[in-house]
Amino acid sequence: MSDQQRIQELEQLVKMLEEQLMQTQRLSSVGALASSITHEFNNILTTVINYAKMGVRHKDAKTRDKAFDRILSAGQRATKITTGMLAYARTSSDRFEPCEMNKLLQDVLILVQKDLQMHRIGIDEDLQPGVWAIVNSSQIQQIIMNLIVNGRQAMGEGGRLKLTIRDNVEEGWAELSIGDSGCGIPNDKLQKIFDPFYTTKKADARGQGGTGIGLSVCRKIIEAHKGRLRVESEVGKGTTFTLKLPRSGSPAGLIDTSAA
Ligand SMILES: Nc1ncnc2c1ncn2[C@@H]1O[C@H](COP(=O)(O)OP(=O)(O)OP(=O)(O)O)[C@@H](O)[C@H]1O
Ligand SMILES: [Mg+2]
Repeated sequence: MSDQQRIQELEQLVKMLEEQLMQTQRLSSVGALASSITHEFNNILTTVINYAKMGVRHKDAKTRDKAFDRILSAGQRATKITTGMLAYARTSSDRFEPCEMNKLLQDVLILVQKDLQMHRIGIDEDLQPGVWAIVNSSQIQQIIMNLIVNGRQAMGEGGRLKLTIRDNVEEGWAELSIGDSGCGIPNDKLQKIFDPFYTTKKADARGQGGTGIGLSVCRKIIEAHKGRLRVESEVGKGTTFTLKLPRSGSPAGLIDTSAA
């Protein structure tokens, strides 16, 4: 085998390992939500059981209708979460296509909402509608998930998460910012946070700490999108990550709501 062939083979192996790492990181980030999602399912089941009991006890149509309504909406909420989880965990395709930024964000929010609520973190939204970018949707959702989980972990108990979507027409970017009111990052550490395995998170009582892979995967994904990932931080005040992706107009046949 020639040197050239050997190099090609090794390059393919590196590519395959990078893809595997990305998929493993995708699954491990959902792991951070395991406790909140279990909690939410418990609440949903309690609602279903209580309204089913009410329906069994009361024979009148009005009470039964109300019980069925509540059971139905609890079931629909559960389906939304499981569908979202399955879609998120699926191996990402290679496809790049126009996606609406709001839709990408909302799909991730369904999964993290309960986690934020359990840690008493409120959300402030400033979301311009009808902002489109050409992206691999599941990879961008992986970035959004990583940034929100990082922000939540930086805030501990209580704080505000600020989400902004902006169409930066002049510079050609669709921009999404995720800001937290957490501990912040010292200036001398800012360069390191994107390095693989750099983490400041110590293992907790259950042996769960950080792996330090989250942001390095984000960087890889951004490079593949020819986008940018900017970070601004102040110790004690918080951190804002801004994701800039190549914008696109709304695809033909879809109504652009930005003018509304
Ligand atoms: N929003 C943030 N606020 C403060 N520090 C942050 C924030 N986001 C990242 N960091 C710092 O950057 C480090 C690296 O982040 P990264 O997401 O790569 O790894 P991790 O969160 O430690 O572990 P993993 O994501 O693999 O579970 C974190 O350990 C933390 O020190
Ligand atoms: Mg992380």
